Amino acid sequence: MTIADLTRSPEWAALKRHRQSLAKTRVADLFKDDPQRFTDFSLTLDEFAFDFSKNLVTAKTMRLLHDLASAADVAGWCERMFAGERINTTEDRAAYHVALRHQGPEPMMVDGKDVMPDVRKVWEQMRGFATSVREGTWRGATGERIRTVINIGIGGSDLGPAMAVQALRPFCHPEMHFYFVSNVDGAHLQAALAHADPASTLFIVSSKTFTTQETLANANAARDWLTARLSPGAVPKHFVAVSAAVDKASTFGIAPENVFGFWDWVGGRYSMWSAIGLPIAVALGWDGFERLLAGAHAMDQHFRRAPAEQNIPLTMGLIALWNIDFLDADAYAVLPYAQDLARLPAYLQQLEMESNGKTTRRDGKRVKCATGPVLFGEPGTNGQHAFYQLIHQGTQRVFCDFILAARDRSGYPDLHRLLAANFLAQSQALMLGKSAAEAMAEMRQAKMKAGKARALSTHRSFAGNRPSNSILLGELDPYHLGKLVALYEHKTFVLGILWGINSFDQWGVELGKQLANDILGGRGVARDGSTAGLKALYDAWQG
Ligand code: F6P
Repeated sequence: MTIADLTRSPEWAALKRHRQSLAKTRVADLFKDDPQRFTDFSLTLDEFAFDFSKNLVTAKTMRLLHDLASAADVAGWCERMFAGERINTTEDRAAYHVALRHQGPEPMMVDGKDVMPDVRKVWEQMRGFATSVREGTWRGATGERIRTVINIGIGGSDLGPAMAVQALRPFCHPEMHFYFVSNVDGAHLQAALAHADPASTLFIVSSKTFTTQETLANANAARDWLTARLSPGAVPKHFVAVSAAVDKASTFGIAPENVFGFWDWVGGRYSMWSAIGLPIAVALGWDGFERLLAGAHAMDQHFRRAPAEQNIPLTMGLIALWNIDFLDADAYAVLPYAQDLARLPAYLQQLEMESNGKTTRRDGKRVKCATGPVLFGEPGTNGQHAFYQLIHQGTQRVFCDFILAARDRSGYPDLHRLLAANFLAQSQALMLGKSAAEAMAEMRQAKMKAGKARALSTHRSFAGNRPSNSILLGELDPYHLGKLVALYEHKTFVLGILWGINSFDQWGVELGKQLANDILGGRGVARDGSTAGLKALYDAWQG
């Protein structure tokens, strides 16, 4: 049975007491006491390792956390998701992204219907289209082959494909260019068009609802750009759409056979596996896209079948809960030691913050604990020279995920060794820290005068005991990226279950949209003095 408010459960209370008992425990000492700690507190799935040993956890902590997961019936909720039940209760629909990467012959049922035939039909459509664009059999209106693909979409209709195409750069078509335009600031579209030749440019307009203001405005501007340079008749050869609202996309002027559909049971931020992944399929080719799906499916199977103690998404969710609700973490940093993963933090911001940035539980009551933290991040080593100072010595408590791929594709093995050394060193430094006495001894050894060394010793000391996970992939390829993203999806889901919230709706983004429309329509500006004042300045400065 599910307990709506886990914070009132005996399992939660046991964790609170246990946390007190660890008040003086240092993770570095746990390593000294247990030479097996890395083995006991890390999990692998083929060439995918999740090391959580640098967190303040013991065997007892994990046992208590797993008790909590049982009390919340995480396993039951997982089954409900895989059974296509309407677990997105406030929108009354399934959250069935796992069907989009399902590999076996088994049916995947929603409302008594196997969705796989429809999923496979869209796969075929995507495969045909991606192949013809890549091979040049799809031609623009003047007979040119397509060299530039511009995806127009925002949120879930942008971040996944943008992140993946960048992450998998070495696997992308070498003679094609991919741009992602999301912002309604015309500078974004203008920057993409500056590189584009209309005759060889294809626009993919991606929007689940096909009502999103930014996307429609950008798509209209792009269509004007194209028709002014070619002709109105050129649109069908240069525009395709991806949407769950096929009729609306057709009204925009896109031929129905060039609209790639998906379904209401695919949430926007869980949609890169659907036709929303079309730019990825064009960039990688169909085989590459299938590898991405296969990697995600491998993680799905693991999440569904692996025993709790070996289950990576479950463990990652429990560790996050421990850091947020028992160790009072304020923020969460995702730190990929891979330049090509530069957009991963932005992608995860939507996945985690739109899913779990909530104060209302499934039962309509207010949560009694902290939920989704602020997520931020940058590739290492760049972040080290920017915000790591705060992570090491600030008053905010930040827990971190460090990510590295073991095999390098850049062709610069010496640089990769430096990258890996930094990946290892940062989590080690966060855990070990350095006492003022150690800092003082170091300075004295470097012949610094005692008075100066004493004055600097507190500045140069580190508290340590700062928690982090490390994720090591064999390689940053489509298969491992699929696993990585599915891991974060399921971990986000686990957290939602533990907090008793629905991770699949996003009512919090609606008010701003509504007020923007009011303001556009000339209403609403006078509701408050600041808005009225800013609007008056804007009008005046526009001239
Ligand atoms: O504003 C939030 C949101 O609804 C996201 O959840 C979604 O990914 C994004 O807007 C884009 O929506 P659409 O794909 O319908 O254009």
